[in-house]
Amino acid sequence: MKLLTVLMLAALPLFCYAGTGCKLVKEVIDWTIDGTLSPEAYVEHLAPYVADDNGATAEALMTMKECFNNQTAETQANIAVMMETIYTSPQCKLFK
Ligand SMILES: *[C@@H]1O[C@H](CO)[C@@H](O)[C@H](O)[C@H]1NC(C)=O
Repeated sequence: MKLLTVLMLAALPLFCYAGTGCKLVKEVIDWTIDGTLSPEAYVEHLAPYVADDNGATAEALMTMKECFNNQTAETQANIAVMMETIYTSPQCKLFK
């Protein structure tokens, strides 16, 4: 959970960028949070951006997606709220 938090913080400028109407980043966030999207389908959606490293990146992404899918619907909904809150926050104005 700590690692997840650190990753989220590191990715803050990216999430902020979503507020500017960058459709791709918004889509990736939506795909990540969508608990009905399978890890396999998730990696397929992201295929153009997955490194060609014998599947290591794809594998890591699938594990991460499985972890998201394993959360309760309530937690997934809360993550969506958190993302929305982050990229509409005053701190994110810097990136707009
Ligand atoms: C997700 O849940 C399944 C079933 O409980 C478990 O086997 C799997 O290890 C979990 N995956 C992750 C990444 O937490």
